[in-house]
Amino acid sequence: MRIVVLEDADAVAAFGANHIIEGIHRKPEITLGLATGSSPVRLYQNLIQVNQEHKVSFQKVSTFNLDEYLGLDGEHPQSYRYFMNEQLFNHIDIDLNNTHVPNGAAKNPLSACEEYEQAIRNRGGIEIQLLGIGRNGHIGFNEPTSSLSSRTRVKTLTKDTVDANRRFFAEGEFQPRLSLTMGISTIMEAQEILLIATGAGKAEAIKNTIEGPVSAFCPASILQMHAKVVVVIDKAAAQELKDVSFYEYIEQEQQRLLAAVKGE
Ligand code: GLP
Repeated sequence: MRIVVLEDADAVAAFGANHIIEGIHRKPEITLGLATGSSPVRLYQNLIQVNQEHKVSFQKVSTFNLDEYLGLDGEHPQSYRYFMNEQLFNHIDIDLNNTHVPNGAAKNPLSACEEYEQAIRNRGGIEIQLLGIGRNGHIGFNEPTSSLSSRTRVKTLTKDTVDANRRFFAEGEFQPRLSLTMGISTIMEAQEILLIATGAGKAEAIKNTIEGPVSAFCPASILQMHAKVVVVIDKAAAQELKDVSFYEYIEQEQQRLLAAVKGE
């Protein structure tokens, strides 16, 4: 695991956006896995800015989002499709036909999940998967005790997740308890994973992800088994880690090595 500890949320967003932009420059027709929640919002703002400055184009990029609420269609302001359109897609030069979010209004959600898996396969798989993390260590909507081998499926949300996301819903408004989410195995098949987290509220989940045992009780801990993961966090999210100075030292050495290889 590459662990990058930065000063604050702005630095995390800039680093994350840059990582994705480099991926698009390497391969303009890249397939990205995208995430919702408050964590990626600033990162998306960075992408929008760089796109509007014509320094990166999304014209050939395809995207697959991690998850969606079951019971909300894409017109619903709390749906993740609506979120993605508002926070990113409507402001960049991407072809909306190349953007995919699980269908929360599907008549048959079980077959919608299988079709989603097939659509990812048809595109040749995800190259860079962006992840946030829930306070309980969930990724996508893979809640604690999710099978570490799971595929895209319908998942029941924990009370903690429902409570954490209540802030987005008006009082008395229907808030879904079920979701469609990529499975943990689906996520693990991405060639590369970029997890971002900021704030003290994520510190325990980050500790369990990086230093805890691999356990379905902290789904993000499976990332220890992935060969190419970068975890980008601010100081607040890093505060429970045992040995931040060691992680910073590794990162410095890595940068030194890369510079030497490039002949800088
Ligand atoms: C939701 C999403 C996750 C996200 C998590 C954290 O439950 N399904 O993909 O990582 O929330 O959200 P936030 O970034 O708002 O803390």
